[in-house]
Amino acid sequence: MPLNTVPFVSVDHMMRIVLDIGVERVLVELADYVEDDFRRWDCFDKTPRVASHSREGVIELMPTSDGEVYGFKYVNGHPSNMQRGLQTVTAFGVLAAVDSGYPLMLSEMTLLTALRTAATSAVAARHLAPADAHRMAIIGNGAQAEFQALAFKAILGITEISLYDIDPAATRKCVGNLRSHGFDIRVANSAEEAVQGAQIVTTVTADKQYATILTDNMIGSGVHINAIGGDCPGKTELHRDILLRSSIFVEFTPQTRIEGEIQQLAPDHPVSELWEVIAGRAEGRTSPDQITLFDSVGFAIEDFAALRYLRDRLADTRHFVELDMIADPDDPRDLFGMLMRAREYC
Ligand SMILES: NC(=O)c1ccc[n+]([C@@H]2O[C@H](COP(=O)([O-])OP(=O)(O)OC[C@H]3O[C@@H](n4cnc5c(N)ncnc54)[C@H](O)[C@@H]3O)[C@@H](O)[C@H]2O)c1
Repeated sequence: MPLNTVPFVSVDHMMRIVLDIGVERVLVELADYVEDDFRRWDCFDKTPRVASHSREGVIELMPTSDGEVYGFKYVNGHPSNMQRGLQTVTAFGVLAAVDSGYPLMLSEMTLLTALRTAATSAVAARHLAPADAHRMAIIGNGAQAEFQALAFKAILGITEISLYDIDPAATRKCVGNLRSHGFDIRVANSAEEAVQGAQIVTTVTADKQYATILTDNMIGSGVHINAIGGDCPGKTELHRDILLRSSIFVEFTPQTRIEGEIQQLAPDHPVSELWEVIAGRAEGRTSPDQITLFDSVGFAIEDFAALRYLRDRLADTRHFVELDMIADPDDPRDLFGMLMRAREYC
């Protein structure tokens, strides 16, 4: 590829790539990329994401590098957007070469974030959920919900799901979208009803407050909680008492202490990082009675893995365009001359 142009994957391209490969296969392959990058955790620059908070939501930058490739994602979280017909979460991202600093790829990441979040949740559950898990409750049936369901089906074989959302229209949408994907679906009238008989509970709601989607009485022994929606200061989903009964697994502790469910706990409350479990350096589930909690907020290495996966797939597809992103004067120091010569044809 020429150095002055950069492949760009639009939303339309992303949809074509994912549909060509198949959603479930993408989720399985993404899960492997996330696991591979978590296994080489020590190679990466790691920092809590840079967040700009407002009354309505948050805009965040999520950078990381493995020493050869640098990546970042721009992402927002605006729970009130839905009332204006806008999405809660949108994103785009970049990979760049560390040796030259030149960008290697730009991509939409709204779809890619939903896919990588679901793949990461399933990776965590693969290590933490009870081995005989067969039913998952999904509380919050918005944009992320179907991706979560499909990742747990593709990666853990979960086909029984119970759905609950405060807005029945969201649940109807979710049932409609998942109907032809081989699920046995139950619609619940409350979160309490949804978690009945579920060995895995996914909370994926959006509300900018200390919410209590799950109360202590709703979580029995042995359950794995996949808590996705509490991902900002002042935005949580679980009652604190559940945290006190759980073994807690996080992505990057310094970021999760600020953004995750554990912002409700003392700053030295013990947690394990998921990469340690994957690399065999920490224990995951150790007993059938244990309550395990994946306190997910989303970490830059997951986006890096997703962009790396996408870049590898670009070799087999024409679903991208080349963007004229980098000025390319014949003499690298003659940027001004390049501009003046352009008068002849601009
Ligand atoms: N951890 C991560 O990596 C990660 C990644 C992406 C999104 N998220 C978070 O996941 C959440 C969901 O994202 P989305 O894009 O699906 O949002 P969305 O707005 O599309 O859907 C959220 C749904 O939650 C429902 N809801 C709100 N309060 C509820 C309650 N008390 N009980 C039941 N349902 C309730 C809403 O009606 C809505 O249907 C957001 O908070 C987002 O910030 C986290």
